[in-house]
Amino acid sequence: MRIFIDSANLEEIRTAASYGIVDGVTTNPSLIAKEGHDHHDQIRAICGILDGDISAEVVATEVDAMVAEGRELAKIHDSVVVKIPLIRDGIKAVSRLTAEGIRTNVTLCFSAMQALLAAKAGAYLISPFIGRLDDISHDGIALIQEIVEIYDNYGYPTQVLAASARGPLHVKQAALAGAHVSTLPYKVFDQLFNHPLTDIGLEKFLADYRKTLVAV
Ligand code: E4P
Repeated sequence: MRIFIDSANLEEIRTAASYGIVDGVTTNPSLIAKEGHDHHDQIRAICGILDGDISAEVVATEVDAMVAEGRELAKIHDSVVVKIPLIRDGIKAVSRLTAEGIRTNVTLCFSAMQALLAAKAGAYLISPFIGRLDDISHDGIALIQEIVEIYDNYGYPTQVLAASARGPLHVKQAALAGAHVSTLPYKVFDQLFNHPLTDIGLEKFLADYRKTLVAV
């Protein structure tokens, strides 16, 4: 499973990238607004940090404007994947951008049928938002399972990107469900490292090692 960082914060992205295990970044207009910089400049800066897929979202909502904005975003760097919301004009824009060879990440997906439409339009990635579904008492992970099964049934190459993860359990469940990618807020990425038995075990190994130094 590929791991992306769901952030527009350069420090978080730099730190996550330093482990050598991060395959990309997802951003959205809310994440970029938090950083207080120009949208395109921030995407350019992120592309300079990490060699991987960098999702950058359009803010237009009409097909021609979305396609034009998608082209501009794609020009920033070869790593850019154009993020398009799953609305009617968005699906039209995905069909057109795909025909031009521009990769897309279809975002704000909340149903298996929406995901089917995105795959038919040629999306490179589909982003079902698991946390936001759980927030309203729906089953986000069940949606990942459904989409993976439907895509497998027909051999669609669109990759399932489990988005809106709230914690390590979501990441494990998404991996078990066969998601190709999980995008994680930095905090969730960092939580994946933790296990108390690792800390206790290491402390004991080092304490025993120190004893051998005294004995010599
Ligand atoms: C994905 O690409 C989105 O940016 C993100 O995962 C949304 O997560 P949220 O529901 O925590 O805002």
